[in-house]
Amino acid sequence: MSEHLLQKKVTDTFQTRFHEAPAMVVRAPGRVNLIGEHTDYNDGFVLPVAVDRAAWLAIGPRDDSWATVRALDMRNDEKTFPVDRTPSSGGGWSDYPQGVVWALLEQGFAPGGINGVLSSDVPVGAGMSSSAAVEVAFAYAWDQLGGFGMKLSDLALLCQKAENQYVGVNCGIMDQMISACGRAGHAMMLDTRTLERAYFSMPAGIAVVVADSTVRRKLSGSEYNVRRAQCEQAVSILKERFPDITALRDVTPQQLDRFQTDLPEIVYRRARHVVTENNRVLQVARDLFEGRMNHAGQLLLEGHRSLRDDYEVSIPELDTLVQAASEVEGCYGARLTGAGFGGCIIAIADEAAVPDIEARLDEVYDAVYGKQPTVYVTLPDNGVARVA
Ligand code: GLA
Repeated sequence: MSEHLLQKKVTDTFQTRFHEAPAMVVRAPGRVNLIGEHTDYNDGFVLPVAVDRAAWLAIGPRDDSWATVRALDMRNDEKTFPVDRTPSSGGGWSDYPQGVVWALLEQGFAPGGINGVLSSDVPVGAGMSSSAAVEVAFAYAWDQLGGFGMKLSDLALLCQKAENQYVGVNCGIMDQMISACGRAGHAMMLDTRTLERAYFSMPAGIAVVVADSTVRRKLSGSEYNVRRAQCEQAVSILKERFPDITALRDVTPQQLDRFQTDLPEIVYRRARHVVTENNRVLQVARDLFEGRMNHAGQLLLEGHRSLRDDYEVSIPELDTLVQAASEVEGCYGARLTGAGFGGCIIAIADEAAVPDIEARLDEVYDAVYGKQPTVYVTLPDNGVARVA
């Protein structure tokens, strides 16, 4: 396979900047989620794919206890921070590698000094996990250089901890797990309680189309935390009826309906999204396995309506794209992907229908919003790996 453009870019820049070849180049992908949204912090199921857009990191060891990292996409911004104590957070892109240093130290590892050059083509703020890709790339590189021998799932947990406690974003485990453990040609069903995973190959002739609304998430951090709190509230109320439950994962749709009136109306709707979404994940995985694309597509559309009406994390731009895509012959279904409030939709469709979908999305989006979405087919790719 020919060298990826970004691999060449980070390798060449490393050579010029640090006057030696990098010891290794690591690639960690972004993701789209086929279904299972806002279920991961409820101990539920998710079905993401790692995509062919990734963070690329050229890295080499140095003798002291410092890291110097240049980010090519941040106007070549370069940061130097210590690796033998907690680096102070600056609120910018380097909080991701710094958070990984903090988390490694917390776990008793001693990350070595490094030079690094980073570049990524995962769009930032588009709900495709650009930050998880960066964290996973650095954690994997430090693990390889230091011979820590971490399991990929432990590495993902370490990155989630960095994001939760150092960066201060209270995300679930989905993004880091798929960036670490994705498999080319497959969607990964993850049980976020046990971290057990099962891989489902994408049926032949089916494309995963991504359409980026180009609306960047705003206020999503605080809204995300509000949703999490509402889910926790639902659990604490339902616990009085069902003492054994510890998360919405444990609640069936029947139980929820039976005690609907115990819950404030809004909390009930949030819980209903999570409880029904968990079922949809299991069903879509089975549909992929059995090639039942029509049914899978219907569930994607149902999932979108649930996110729009019950969980209230969609925006009109995403609704418009979902509606437009789903009207095209050969498109099975579509939904927003990621946390919501902006970012992307995905559609699953026959490969032959992709040009029509693209044309339709361009036309409708232009007519309603006077702008173009960025539309492309994404190929399910591998999780983190050393590529050189
Ligand atoms: C963000 C978080 C994930 C997950 C999704 C919603 O991407 O990082 O952990 O909660 O939102 O499904």
